[in-house]
Order: sequence, then structure tokens, then C-alpha cells
Amino acid sequence: MTLNLRYFEENSSHDEIDISCMQTAMNSLWNVKLSLCLMFFLFSPIVFAWTATPFNPPSYPLAVRTPYLSAWLPSGGSGKALNDVWPQFWTGATVGWAGFANVDEVAYNFLGNPVVSGTNFTKATQISAEFTSTQSIFVFTAGPVELTVTFLSPIEAIDLVKQSLPFSYLSVAAASTDGLPHTVAVYTDISGEWLTSNDTSVIEWNSTTTGSVLTHQSQLKSQTEYVESADRIQQGSIYYSTENFEGATYQTGQDVVVRAQFIDNGVLANTLDTNFRTVSDDWPVFAFAASLGMVTSEPQSAVFSVGHVRDPVVHYIQSGDALEDRSYYFWSNYSTVAAAISDFLSDYPMALARAETLDQSLQIAAASISSAYADIVALSMRQTFGATELTISGSPGAWNTSDVLMFLKEISSDGNVNTVDVIMPAWPAFMLMNPELGKYLILPLLQYQETGQYPNVYAAHDLGSTYPIANGHNLGNDEPMPIEESGNMINMALDYTQRTGDTSLVTTYSGLFTQWADYLVANTLFPADQLSTTDFAGPLPNQTNLAIKGIIGIQAMSVISETYLNDTVASNSYRSTAASYLSTWQEHGISSDGSHLILEYGNDSTDVLGYNLAMDKLLGLNFIPPSVNSLQSAWYANNIEKYGFPIDSRTTYTSADWMIWTAMTTSAAVQTSFIDAIHSWLSSGLTSTPFGDRFEDDTGINSSNENRPVVGGNLALLLSNKTV
Ligand SMILES: *[C@@H]1O[C@H](CO)[C@@H](O)[C@H](O)[C@H]1NC(C)=O
Ligand SMILES: *[C@@H]1O[C@H](CO)[C@@H](O)[C@H](O)[C@H]1NC(C)=O
Ligand SMILES: *[C@@H]1O[C@H](CO)[C@@H](O)[C@H](O)[C@H]1NC(C)=O
Ligand SMILES: *[C@@H]1O[C@H](CO)[C@@H](O)[C@H](O)[C@H]1NC(C)=O
Ligand SMILES: *[C@@H]1O[C@H](CO)[C@@H](O)[C@H](O)[C@H]1NC(C)=O
Ligand SMILES: *[C@@H]1O[C@H](CO)[C@@H](O)[C@H](O)[C@H]1NC(C)=O
Ligand SMILES: *[C@@H]1O[C@H](CO)[C@@H](O)[C@H](O)[C@H]1NC(C)=O
Ligand SMILES: *[C@@H]1O[C@H](CO)[C@@H](O)[C@H](O)[C@H]1NC(C)=O
Ligand SMILES: *[C@@H]1O[C@H](CO)[C@@H](O)[C@H](O)[C@H]1NC(C)=O
Repeated sequence: MTLNLRYFEENSSHDEIDISCMQTAMNSLWNVKLSLCLMFFLFSPIVFAWTATPFNPPSYPLAVRTPYLSAWLPSGGSGKALNDVWPQFWTGATVGWAGFANVDEVAYNFLGNPVVSGTNFTKATQISAEFTSTQSIFVFTAGPVELTVTFLSPIEAIDLVKQSLPFSYLSVAAASTDGLPHTVAVYTDISGEWLTSNDTSVIEWNSTTTGSVLTHQSQLKSQTEYVESADRIQQGSIYYSTENFEGATYQTGQDVVVRAQFIDNGVLANTLDTNFRTVSDDWPVFAFAASLGMVTSEPQSAVFSVGHVRDPVVHYIQSGDALEDRSYYFWSNYSTVAAAISDFLSDYPMALARAETLDQSLQIAAASISSAYADIVALSMRQTFGATELTISGSPGAWNTSDVLMFLKEISSDGNVNTVDVIMPAWPAFMLMNPELGKYLILPLLQYQETGQYPNVYAAHDLGSTYPIANGHNLGNDEPMPIEESGNMINMALDYTQRTGDTSLVTTYSGLFTQWADYLVANTLFPADQLSTTDFAGPLPNQTNLAIKGIIGIQAMSVISETYLNDTVASNSYRSTAASYLSTWQEHGISSDGSHLILEYGNDSTDVLGYNLAMDKLLGLNFIPPSVNSLQSAWYANNIEKYGFPIDSRTTYTSADWMIWTAMTTSAAVQTSFIDAIHSWLSSGLTSTPFGDRFEDDTGINSSNENRPVVGGNLALLLSNKTV
């Protein structure tokens, strides 16, 4: 077998030991070296048969670009190779995605876990797995050939056309490792499970050649715009595509038939099955094979794209309760999906180069804090952007590219649209990648509340209960988080304005910001029995951490008034109110022995993760006395549990992203301990879901809130000043 030196350099000694154990197995020398390996097994927390860089995460992102294009490899526990299990939608539903390579007429399975009776194939051996911010890369040996399987889900934050393309890449490269040329062909297929989690849904499909591109398209026979079932949209099509170079073949049909065709012959039959049926009725699959010819040590590759496209994308409330149909931004540049796919495929070399630049920039920036921090950041990026969709209004030939709005699905905790206390924690990723995206996320909330249809004086929690229907809450019965969301809206607006110099939000919507600031003036010092963002813990009156978010919001409004609205009178009033509230807050919110912030005023036996103090750092206000941060920092240092500090004393749950936010306010030592606690949980093998942001601080179990975009908050430490 070939070992890539890079992995030795990048990994700890125990990873090298893993490899030596694997080599032992490969060499069939178990009986000689087994006991030596077992010794290392006992001393290592988890040992994988492959090199994991930087570590084996709970779940690898494979194709993660929108709430409905979200395919993952669950790899927790003792580790699952790419060909041990089927990929899954983020909910855990299987998404059929198979891959084989044919090397000198011997078939190897490298993706998915297919059973094809009556055929002869073996599993390729996974020797390494790696994730970066945009890529998951798996390397296999398949006889005398090394296969490199790369899943690239681009993050194109400054190119709105490219960011809005709901497509992801799969590249399979083969290279000879024994100095001899070998005949190699690669195969891949997808199933109807990319459309629905309901296997008894009827699907239809067709296959086309457009210019130089081969595409399989499939959709539900019965579609309903804007309606989800089990978190899958009941609308739109999946597209599986590849460039139609010489040696490309295709086939649609029953899974075992199509796969057997390739396993036995190394090519597909170029035949189409038109017997439309349910997802699980003889499992129709949509397949391509690519002949790479005679492969030497110079890698040869084939590239595939997979996407889920629908139009319209979001139903969005206007004045008079009218609903607007909005479409993906990419329609401003392409008149057909085929044209978009063609550009997407031919752009692969450039997309990969941009992705590698992004991966490296984030790695270098985050590694300056710590390598554990860089790992957390890398696992957060695709998940954050994969909850969003960039849209425009208009119609073909008349798209309004001045009207850009970004929609975000809360995911897993519920399916709300543009939840304010989900955008707020996720905010750092957007600010770091392109602050304009922050505007596109909060603008729909501002536009809606400016219509006057939302009846509450405080800021709305979200734009709609069920993604992708952004129909507002004209009855005002959204989940009430009055102080939480009013503070969040003001704080995000000031941060956006400070970073960009674009005053349009604070000037156009100054009436709303004033209304929310005045709500805070009247309500935030002694909060009523309200929810905060950690709603799973329930409401509580007089929450110290909630109150300070509102007080910082008032201080932020004084800056907005002074700097952007030229209203010195209002500014002075907000500033003096904030100062006086801060002083009263310290009297009530700090325990009587002066040792820590308490969860609720007057109850010394409580404590809280004071993440809202970080809003002061975000905005550069220098409003919170350093003494408050110091005492909290000491409290965290003395009370941190194995996997972190609990969100508050009512619960043993902690929250990854809020710990990172809090680390903006602590000593370097506490910052390190928070990062290391999250890293140790992520690499513990305790779960197999996409990055969950909530887990028990002591045992790490009961993890939940998987795949939420809030992990964008894990970038907070890269944003601690405005010069980023
Ligand atoms: C599988 O391989 C074995 C051993 O080479 C051979 O005996 C058998 O006929 C093959 N089966 C098929 C279905 O090709
Ligand atoms: C699955 O789809 C079938 C056919 O459309 C439908 O009858 C059934 O109710 C669906 N099942 C679920 C759980 O949604
Ligand atoms: C494939 O099916 C889609 C959806 O029904 C349709 O829009 C498209 O025109 C079809 N293409 C061909 C070549 O039949
Ligand atoms: C828009 O489409 C053209 C023509 O296909 C392409 O050259 C260009 O790169 C696209 N623009 C963006 C921003 O992707
Ligand atoms: C395009 O959008 C902008 C921003 O929402 C709006 O001001 C303008 O009226 C729109 N133009 C058209 C033609 O609808
Ligand atoms: C909040 O705390 C203040 C000061 O201790 C107290 O007067 C008030 O009753 C408390 N509010 C609630 C709702 O408990
Ligand atoms: C505030 O004053 C500045 C300088 O006088 C001016 O440029 C700006 O337009 C004013 N802004 C508003 C919102 O009145
Ligand atoms: C103080 O907090 C503790 C722990 O959450 C709780 O059990 C107790 O009931 C609280 N006391 C009061 C007076 O609310
Ligand atoms: C956490 O998991 C344990 C073990 O599965 C279970 O007994 C306990 O009730 C769970 N706790 C919560 C809060 O869900």
C-alpha cells in the first residue's frame, strides 16, 4: 500500500500507530503484531483503520449547500468509512449514492454500501479521510490504483450567482501506485432518496445531453410548491450531471441491474428505464460511468455534479398580506438549469482553486488561535451556508438584482424562516465571509415589520413558522422572545453598519430600531417571565444574561443615533439610560459574594454562561466593565465540566457556539479550555449527526440541534475586532 507522507507530517504519533496497525492487518501478520496493536488500542480513545485529518468528525459533509441539498456521511462511534454505510440526509434518512471503480476488470466499491448479488466486487480500502471548510476528501486503495474521492461544496460568499447555485461536486481521481498502467473506469449513481424520505412516493425522470453535458433529472410526480414533508421540499428536481467526454456512458434502471452492468462490464449500456414508479419499487437509480483509459501515476479524474433545484424558492410576505414568489439569484445569469450546470461543471478547476484558497485562509487565521479551533471552524462552514438560499424577485428577462434577500432555515430545533436568534449566533460566519450577506439576512425581517403588519412593539422572532414560507406573523403569535430579538436586531444592524459603512439599514428602518430600543428601555432592566434564545430551558423572570443583551442594545442604539442618525438628543438619552441600567444590573446580576453572574436576580445558587457580554466585544463598545468579564472568567475556569460550561444552572446542557462567543470575553486560558472542550466532544465519537450545537457538559450525550447554522458562531473569535 502507499502511504502519503503528508499525513505522517500532519498527524500525531498515535495516528501513525493506527497506520502501523492497519499495515499489520494488510500484511496478514495479525498473529505476530496483534498484541502490540491491541496495546495501542487500549491507550487510544478511538482508533480508525484510516488516517483521519484533522480527526474523525461525527458526520462528514458530502453535498451540503441548501436546506434540501444536505447529504452527509455519518461517521461517529468507532468510525465509518465512505463505503461502510449509505450517506444520509441531515435528518438521518438514507440518500442512495453509490460509487464503484473498475480496475483491470476488477470492481471496487468506494461509496455507499450496495449489495449486488450475483456479482463479484470488493470494497476499496479507505486509507485516509479529511475535511476542510469546503471539502471532504477520502483516499482508497483499489488494487494497484489509488482513488481520491473529493466532495466539494463551494462557499462563494462574494459571488452571489455562484453562491446561489444549489449544486455540489464529486470528483473521483485514479492514479497507479505500482509503476504500471492500469485500465480504470469509475461509476456513480444516485437514487430517488435525494428527493424524499418517503420511499413510497412516485418519481419520474429523464436523461438529456445538452451540449457537452449529460444530465439525469428526477422529480416527485406529485409536487406541492413551498411544502415540506419530513424536512424535504415536495417540489423541484434533482440533477446528476457529468461532462460528456469520450468514454462517458449512462443508464437508468433498477439499482442492482445498473450496478451489475458496470461491475461486470466496466461501462453502462446507455439505456433508459421509463417505467416511472416509487422510490423503492425496484429502486430506480440514475447512473454514469466514465472511462479514464490507461491510468499511470499521473492522476486521471472524472467530475460529477449533484443539485436540487426548484422555482420558485421562497414565498415572501408583502404589504397587504400579499405573497411574492422569489427565485434563486442565479436566474439573473442563466435562463436554463442546463446552462447553469454546464458552467458549474466546467468551472470545477477554478472552483477547486478558490475553495483551496478559502480553506487555507480560514485554516491559517483560525490556527493562529489554536489548531483545535481551526478544526472546529472547518467543520462549521458548509453547515452554516447550507442552511441558506439567496433569492431575487422578478421573472425571466426581468429579474430585479437590486432586490437580493437571503433566507435561512433554522433546521432541527424547528423549521422557522430567518429566526433572529439563529441569525445572531451564526452572524460571525457571514460577517467574516461577506458582511453584505448579513444585510440580505435581516433585510426581509425589517421590510416585513416596516409594512406595519406585525402587531407587537418588539422585534419578531422569525419570518414564518415553516420554511420556505416567509409569511410573517400578522397575528403576532410567533414564539415570543421580546428582549432577545429586539436586542439582536439592533446589535446586528449596528455591527453591519460599522463593518460596511452602508448606513441604509439604520437610516431606512430608524423607526423600527427606535421602537425596539424604546421597548428595551421600558422592559430590559427587570425582564418579565420571558424566553431567551435557550428556549429549551423555559422562561424565567429577571434573567441576568437576557437583561444585559437588552442593555447593550440600548447602548448600541445610542451609537446608531449619534453616528448615523445625527440625533444627539436621542443618543444622550439612550447612553445615560444604558449607563444607569448597567449599574443597577451589576447590583442585581452579580452574586452577593461578588463571585459570578447569576442566572436570575436574587438567586445566588444559580449561574449562567454570560454569552451576551460578547455583544459588547462584537460592537467594540467598551461598555461592560472589565471587572465583570474577569470575575466570570474565573468562575468558568473553576466550574467548567468535561465538555464545557452549562448554558445555565437549570440544565447540564452546554452550547458550542455560545461557548465560543463567550470565549471573546474570557482569559486566554478559559478560551483555550472552551475550545478544547468542544473539540474533545466533536472528536469523541459520541454522535453521528451533523455538528450538534447542544450536548451535556459532563457526559456529552443527548446531543441535539444538529445541522443548525448557528455553528457559524464558531467563527466569532476571528471577528474580535472590526479590522477583519
Ligand atoms: C466470482 O469470482 C469467483 C472467483 O474468481 C468465480 O468463481 C465466480 O464465478 C465469480 N462469480 C461471478 C458472478 O462472476
Ligand atoms: C408516503 O407517500 C405515500 C404516497 O404519496 C402516501 O400515501 C403516504 O402517506 C406517505 N407517507 C408519509 C409517512 O408521509
Ligand atoms: C425532463 O423532465 C422535466 C420535468 O418534467 C421537463 O421539464 C423536461 O423538459 C424533460 N426533459 C426532456 C428532454 O424530456
Ligand atoms: C454568468 O454566465 C456567464 C455565461 O455562462 C459566465 O461566463 C459567467 O461566469 C457567469 N457569471 C457568474 C457570476 O457566475
Ligand atoms: C427592485 O428592487 C428594489 C429594491 O427592493 C426596488 O426598490 C425596486 O423598485 C425594484 N424594481 C422593480 C422594477 O421592481
Ligand atoms: C425582578 O427583580 C426585582 C428586583 O429584585 C423584583 O422587584 C421583581 O419583582 C422581579 N420580577 C419578577 C417578575 O420576579
Ligand atoms: C448626518 O450628518 C452628516 C454630516 O452633517 C450628513 O452627511 C448626513 O447625511 C446626516 N445623516 C442623516 C441621517 O441625517
Ligand atoms: C434558585 O435557583 C435554584 C436552582 O435553579 C432553584 O432550585 C431555586 O428554586 C431558586 N430559588 C428561588 C427562590 O427562585
Ligand atoms: C439523557 O440521556 C440519558 C441516557 O440516554 C437519559 O436517561 C436522560 O433522560 C437524557 N436526558 C435528557 C435531558 O434528555
